Amino acid sequence: MAERRRGGGGGGGRGGLGLYEAAASVLAGLEKGEGSLKNLVYGSSFQSPRPLYALVSETLRYSDVLDSILGAAGLLRMEKKLQPHLAKVLAYDLLLGKGLRGGGRGKVLVLKHRARLQAELARLKVQKKVSRNEDLLPPAGGAEQAPQVPRYVRVNTLKTHLDDVVDYFKRQQYVYQGKAGSMEEVSSLSGKKFYLDPHLPELLIFPPQMDFHDNQLYVAGHIILQDKASCLPAFLLNPLLGSHVIDACAAPGNKTSHLAAVMKNKGRIFALDRDAKRLATMSTMLMRAGATCYQLAHQDFLTTDPADPKYSQVRYILLDPSCSGSGMASQLPVENTLLPERLQALAGFQKKMLAHALSFPALQRLVYSTCSVYQEENEDVVWDVLQQREKEFRLVQALPSWSHRGSGTFAEAKFCLRASPKETLTNGFFVAVLERWHGGASEKSSTAVLPKAENTAEDSCPVPKGRMKQARGAL
Ligand SMILES: C[S@@+](CC[C@H](N)C(=O)[O-])C[C@H]1O[C@@H](n2cnc3c(N)ncnc32)[C@H](O)[C@@H]1O
Repeated sequence: MAERRRGGGGGGGRGGLGLYEAAASVLAGLEKGEGSLKNLVYGSSFQSPRPLYALVSETLRYSDVLDSILGAAGLLRMEKKLQPHLAKVLAYDLLLGKGLRGGGRGKVLVLKHRARLQAELARLKVQKKVSRNEDLLPPAGGAEQAPQVPRYVRVNTLKTHLDDVVDYFKRQQYVYQGKAGSMEEVSSLSGKKFYLDPHLPELLIFPPQMDFHDNQLYVAGHIILQDKASCLPAFLLNPLLGSHVIDACAAPGNKTSHLAAVMKNKGRIFALDRDAKRLATMSTMLMRAGATCYQLAHQDFLTTDPADPKYSQVRYILLDPSCSGSGMASQLPVENTLLPERLQALAGFQKKMLAHALSFPALQRLVYSTCSVYQEENEDVVWDVLQQREKEFRLVQALPSWSHRGSGTFAEAKFCLRASPKETLTNGFFVAVLERWHGGASEKSSTAVLPKAENTAEDSCPVPKGRMKQARGAL
């Protein structure tokens, strides 16, 4: 934790956001499933990501302990203005870290209750019969451990080429192993070895402990650090060059930059998000990635008018809405159970978003994705909305060679794709591909998506006849 102090207790953020506020915002983002810990930390505008990362991961490690202390002390009941995530990081540093630094109103509120919080920590230790803080943590290795997810590196083809990046790493004494042949090969990656991903043509796979956030290729936007599962939506949406696309929940923008790369910056991406702060971060990220074919809009997607002439050519929509984020829990000590009411509320919101997306008149293909493991947010959402639109849209089989499929109460659930640390060595994720339905009953299901070579139209994007027959998964 010593390094964390470089960031200071209160300052360090560009927009005046202090370390504790930035950490609270990352915790909130994780809870809403807005990205992985690393992406949220390095995608934030906070100037010192390493101390921020350390503070958030330590707070997460002690999450259950802190919840129990804060609950027993009644802090949030007494201080109604204290934001819960901020209370948690402050309580971590006060009780388990090196003591609070810097200023801020939150700190004053927490310090008012210092004695009570310390007493609750002491009580917990007596109750658990331990003397050290670390002994409050659950023993490691008790439950079945999920395998560690490798470090995935997406080569940003807007700025460089796969071969150049491979050569760069070779010059840095990394050892290129070619295309990975099996999960076993990938899960046993170690040292400086790296593979090309077997499904995604511009994705490299490194051992889990590799951190390239300081690497010059990352800083220059030549590589994007993005989990493999999160690369699937843009890959499967596969918009034609020159087409118009809506990225309905776009921030912090990894999938938008991927879409721009797939489209070679030709066409238009309407990238919407209702969170202004995340959009600001996204704008910097997209600039670094060399994306130019996008229009950012600070807007609630549900308020967009599908009849607006500016959307009249939108044939593709990527819908990656806020979700429980439960797919990220496999790597993080975040509670992986959700209140049924919260789950219901999320699913209700996701259904509204999907139904709205399907009402865009020129829409041909839509990808719906979440980083949730719950069927309620995934297959059930897709099924529920498709029931109302079954004459117009159908599920198509996404990446047939992908082994981990959707599950649910309807036959086509297997057309959807799931990802998890155990089954696919990725974060927990869900993807469904929906296409406008042109055929008759015998064609009720099909496979996605056109091969790359056909993706060459510059100015328009008709759906060529017969392309439905091509599976992107024939890899
Ligand atoms: C899972 S994150 C999206 C991650 C993003 N697609 C990426 O790859 O970087 C969900 C995003 O949806 C946004 N959001 C939630 N409800 C929205 C709405 N009604 N309209 C637009 N954006 C919304 C949130 O602000 C959040 O940034």
